Amino acid sequence: MPVKALYPGTFDPPTNGHVDLIQRGAKLFDHLTVAVLNNPVKNPLFTVAERVEMLTEATASIGNVSVSMFDGLMVAFARQLGATAVLRGIRAISDYEHEFQMALMNRRLAPEIESVFLQPAGRYSFVSSRMVKEVFSFGGDVTGLVPPNVLKRLRTRINGKS
Ligand SMILES: Nc1ncnc2c1ncn2[C@@H]1O[C@H](COP(=O)(O)OP(=O)(O)OP(=O)(O)O)[C@@H](O)[C@H]1O
Ligand SMILES: [Mg+2]
Repeated sequence: MPVKALYPGTFDPPTNGHVDLIQRGAKLFDHLTVAVLNNPVKNPLFTVAERVEMLTEATASIGNVSVSMFDGLMVAFARQLGATAVLRGIRAISDYEHEFQMALMNRRLAPEIESVFLQPAGRYSFVSSRMVKEVFSFGGDVTGLVPPNVLKRLRTRINGKS
């Protein structure tokens, strides 16, 4: 039976760390759905639709990946997709505590779904959406840390240039 996985996140914006994880996940699973959580509480820089577009562009060359969005409980969306695995990334020990708590809560909610953790390439292990936004907004160069299409959108959004 084909194994479907869900990779949920905020992706505000997608980084090369996210893309690295998607590439690894796409090799491991028959199909991977990358899904943007619609969480209005987080006061995002990009709309959910923009984040879905950026992820779609950045993963266009990977055949077994699709991109969507979801609201509410992640495991409910995973069940809706027929996913039996949830992909998450661990950059450092600091990610572990929160991921571990979420994985155990999700297991309680949906025991049939396994959380799978992958490490990115070492060169992306320090990259977060928050740092990318912070550094870029102060004029720092984030080339190589985000896909080219994301860099373009950051320029338009933060500098008002295209
Ligand atoms: N550079 C990276 N390498 C591997 N996994 C990552 C990387 N960045 C994020 N992830 C993982 O991707 C998932 C979704 O992360 P999320 O959308 O919160 O990104 P983030 O970069 O942590 O954003 P923020 O800085 O806003 O918290 C999480 O499991 C997170 O650990
Ligand atoms: Mg995070």
